[in-house]
Amino acid sequence: MYRVGVVGLGYVGLCTGAVLAKKLEVVGLDVDARKVKSLRKGMTAIPEKGLQQLLKWGLDSGRLSFTSDYNELAGSDFVFIAVGTPSLTSGEIDLRHVESSAASIGKAIRGSGWEPVIVMKSTVVPGTTDGVVTGLLETHSGKRVGKDFEVCSNPEFLREGSAIQDTLNPDRIVIGSRSRKGSRRLEAFWRAFYGRKAPLFVVTDNTTAELVKYSSNAFLATKISFINFISRIAEKFPGCDVNVVAKAMGLDPRIGPSFLEAGPGYGGSCFPKDLKALIAFSEALGLDPGMINSVDMVNETQPQHVLSLAEGTLGGLQGKRVAILGLAFKAGTSDVRESRSIVLARLFLSHGAELRVYDPRATDEARRFLGDSVAYTRSAMDCIRGSDVAVVMNAESEFRRLKPAEFLKHMRRATVLDTRRIYDPGRFSMVELFQLGRGVAKR
Ligand code: UGA
Repeated sequence: MYRVGVVGLGYVGLCTGAVLAKKLEVVGLDVDARKVKSLRKGMTAIPEKGLQQLLKWGLDSGRLSFTSDYNELAGSDFVFIAVGTPSLTSGEIDLRHVESSAASIGKAIRGSGWEPVIVMKSTVVPGTTDGVVTGLLETHSGKRVGKDFEVCSNPEFLREGSAIQDTLNPDRIVIGSRSRKGSRRLEAFWRAFYGRKAPLFVVTDNTTAELVKYSSNAFLATKISFINFISRIAEKFPGCDVNVVAKAMGLDPRIGPSFLEAGPGYGGSCFPKDLKALIAFSEALGLDPGMINSVDMVNETQPQHVLSLAEGTLGGLQGKRVAILGLAFKAGTSDVRESRSIVLARLFLSHGAELRVYDPRATDEARRFLGDSVAYTRSAMDCIRGSDVAVVMNAESEFRRLKPAEFLKHMRRATVLDTRRIYDPGRFSMVELFQLGRGVAKR
């Protein structure tokens, strides 16, 4: 049975480790001793479907263990590096955690007969695995890549909210390596793990693999910003609907239907950070990042656009009571990082509005960003009570279930701004319903 080490127990590391422990022996490492202590008891703050059960199963069966000591990784066939690469103010990524984990793994290899494959899962700009990680591993181990150990790049494509399912059913596996020996070992590992369910493999060099990750996220973000820009045009024409435009566009197999849902803009820990990193990286290469800049710019201005729609409807925002339904960057998660809701809430506050906010899972997280500046409520109904406009910012099922009569009954003025297109205008004819990307005649 393979033995695997996973360094960094955030979303990617923990979900990958927990899934691998279904079949293999896994040692998860994190420098945060408190996190390790909780994980040993089977506790995690990551609310992924199925994760809790996998953790329990892994711990009970003895297949999954947690540590903060790099020496406990020794003997692993593979060590996956899945530490965070947060943004610096310049937009570049902060490689501090990648560097320290590579150095620590190197030290654990030093003087041992251990010949692992070190696998980069963290999102890093092209050239990092060869230029930074490999050098640190060699320096600290005193050994040579390609001779004593291997280094591969294996970017991750899982999504928050469906991380376990995505890990169990990947649509492709991209493997970068400097040597055929490294990529063969990693490919054999994944083929053994997935068996007949193994997806397509793309085997390439480390830098290309790193570029695949940025290109995939940047392309998905481009689709979103593109349709968000088109939705601004559609809103200018009564009867025009961006959803119909997106549907018709998506029927062209060259375009495809996914990631064409207009909304308040993309958030989360990946797209905004990756786009900014790609911009900074392109500039450093002497390239004009104009194209990616535009994608970022549409996203940055989308909350302002939502605010203008609310302002136009209410005729000013000073003293108006605004309810924001949905704080997480998308439904099904408690993550508010780069959430457009947080940006929008701050914009409303700066325009003198009074704010009540609600999310079924993300209230505690949002409090860390919004503090006491807003009123947090315990239900959607409580949130909309007495308000002049309700702005729906994510597609939680609790919001989908709200009935027009409830808005009419509880709000001071029943105006609903649906940025996720979750309400049927036919059913909502009794309230003033405004939807992103749907032009309506001036009332
Ligand atoms: C994203 C990618 O989808 C994953 O493939 C990738 O592995 C991950 O980033 C990462 O790099 O770690 P995630 O951030 O979990 O995953 O979220 P998505 O489901 O992709 O949504 C991102 C944002 O785009 C959300 O705010 C969502 O509401 C928004 N979105 C998505 C739209 O506004 N419209 C769409 O049509 C789709």
